[in-house]
Amino acid sequence: MTSATFERILVTAALPYANGPLHIGHLAGAYLPADIFVRFQRLRGKPVLFICGSDEHGVPIVLRARKDGVSPQAIVDRFHVQMRDAFAAFGMSFDHFGRTSGAVHADTSQAFFSVLDEKSSFVQKTESQLFDPKAGMFLADRFVRGTCPHCEYDDAYGDQCEKCGRSLSPKDLKNPRSVISDAIPEVRETTHWYLPLGVLQPKLEAWLSHHEDWKVNVLGQVRSWLQEGLGDRAVTRDQSWGVPVPKKSAEKAGIDATGKVLYVWFDAPIGYISFTAEWAQVQGQPDDWKRWWQDPGTRLVQFIGKDNIVFHCLIFPAMLQAHGGFVLPDAVPANEFLNLEGQKLSTSRGWAVWLHEFLEDFPADYLRYSLARILPETKDADFSFTDFQAHINNELADTLGNLINRSLTFAVRYFDGKIPSLEHPSEADSAMLAEIARYPAIVAEHLESFHFREALSEVMALARVGNKYFNDAAPWATRKSDPRACGNTIHVAAQLCACLSILIDPFLPFTAASVRRMLGIDGVSSASGTQATIHWDDAVRPLIEAGQTLGPIEILFHKVQDEQVAKQRAKLDAAMPAAPAPKAAFLPMGDTITYDDFAKLDLRVGRVISCEPVKKSKKLLRCEVDLGFETRQILAGVALHFKPEHLIGRNVIVVANLAPRTMMGLESHGMMLMATDREDRLFALSADAEPGSVVR
Ligand code: MF3
Ligand code: ZN
Repeated sequence: MTSATFERILVTAALPYANGPLHIGHLAGAYLPADIFVRFQRLRGKPVLFICGSDEHGVPIVLRARKDGVSPQAIVDRFHVQMRDAFAAFGMSFDHFGRTSGAVHADTSQAFFSVLDEKSSFVQKTESQLFDPKAGMFLADRFVRGTCPHCEYDDAYGDQCEKCGRSLSPKDLKNPRSVISDAIPEVRETTHWYLPLGVLQPKLEAWLSHHEDWKVNVLGQVRSWLQEGLGDRAVTRDQSWGVPVPKKSAEKAGIDATGKVLYVWFDAPIGYISFTAEWAQVQGQPDDWKRWWQDPGTRLVQFIGKDNIVFHCLIFPAMLQAHGGFVLPDAVPANEFLNLEGQKLSTSRGWAVWLHEFLEDFPADYLRYSLARILPETKDADFSFTDFQAHINNELADTLGNLINRSLTFAVRYFDGKIPSLEHPSEADSAMLAEIARYPAIVAEHLESFHFREALSEVMALARVGNKYFNDAAPWATRKSDPRACGNTIHVAAQLCACLSILIDPFLPFTAASVRRMLGIDGVSSASGTQATIHWDDAVRPLIEAGQTLGPIEILFHKVQDEQVAKQRAKLDAAMPAAPAPKAAFLPMGDTITYDDFAKLDLRVGRVISCEPVKKSKKLLRCEVDLGFETRQILAGVALHFKPEHLIGRNVIVVANLAPRTMMGLESHGMMLMATDREDRLFALSADAEPGSVVR
């Protein structure tokens, strides 16, 4: 189904765990596509609510707190704020960013649990589990370590052996010990609440049969779970950090509820509901959350990464159905994973680009663009800084930025900063206006069907059409020969910039605002909590009046320099030194030569007296080399290996009778000899002899 058939759209993005900083993989998986979709829907004028927040329960948070020697609350307080701020800096336009350690959430999830309990939707089971007698608590999977029964690795986790990769259950471990106290765990009985998903499966399947249009990657996972048959899932844990099991349920079951909490994957998705309730409270209409969650006119769209599919497409819907009265997700556009420079992102190994650090080096829209360009919509994608540089330089700067910049600069310079009128447009002018009228619907169709990469590529196609139009119209020539034609070109170009300022908005909200400031257009906004008067569909028509005065010109994009790319790479390498590559083979020997061949070379000792990078060249260094009898300019393609200061003052061996060559407009008189080892490292050859000495 599409958004058009609904009255309002409720968009959620997976609640990130508050146990570490956010990286580019988070953005590409769920948050960026969600924000693009939401901003687009706001521009369409649809009532849309965008809900997210931090997932603050679960064992990893408890473990992290133990490791850092602080309370779990201190951990989540820290990362909640860090994540919230990083999201805001990247323009994630949540209407509300809540947290599951809050009071509203505890109430909401306990109430939800109680309804299921009263409807007898749960079953209780008593099982034996490992208990730490010293710490006085049951041990969750990750709290037990011991010897793997399969490979004898002596430090395997209760749920998985890191050595052989097999999944385990804590009771499988030989010589188990508690991570908390090092005590030998005892086996004790404990009772938990289970959601019998097998019983709920037929109803789930009936609902899912209406969603055959979901993405293949999503349906694939869902079908394989269903085929295997869903089983009972425990929804409570023996833990102290989490939402306590409601007292009434415990009493009813005759169980001591102390130390029992809701399982994190039970309480977290309810966060979507409790955060909506918090939002409604802030709005001063505390009951308004019901309209968003209970009125069938709501379209619920949930953005997630692929590791969350089973929870959002099966378990949470089963919970919602068991409770009754809630809307179910109408779309779950899950993305695959993002890799970084060809390797899996890894928080623990530090192989990641952290959002809060990225902004020290580049504007947010650069990352939004580059990620939107490669979103892992159908398969895993790879982010590399070389691609990033190409995306920004060739596409944002040279295509989009160039079009807007030259159009508006022209108007400032030659039309006094006012948009000229359109008089007797040429065929090309009318054709360009027709293109402007055509694109918003094309882009909208892709956005509506969650094809964000395709949508962006159409936006850029329009920018390219615009550049061609501008080139062909050549206003710099018609300015003198045909002022009316020149004015028409600038008029049409300004309309195009206005149209683009709307079409790029979901992807590049900061840039879009900047373009509109220059054009002096008010009334467009995709930010949360604002009311727009100009909408997406208005992008089809000329939005700029003749005579409109432009605001000050703003630079939209700066090219990403090679040094900036090198700096980012160096940062990654420092975080995780690249594994030593297997040594390459030695180069094969060259053909045999005669002594006469060799004697043709005039090799001399020289001293590098000055050295500097050649402008606009990545590789070249320009050196002045003293050969005793004369000083020469020699260019060396070694800038990626040496800094000038590494060479200055050094003696080198020079091929002195090599014919001169010109590179980057500079002449090179000779060549410095260097040795290249098997790892492609360079070593300058040198001799202690005075400059001018002959080498044989
Ligand atoms: N915290 C989970 C993760 O990062 C996602 C939770 S989504 C929710 O994988 F639905 F449970 F909230
Ligand atoms: Zn093992």
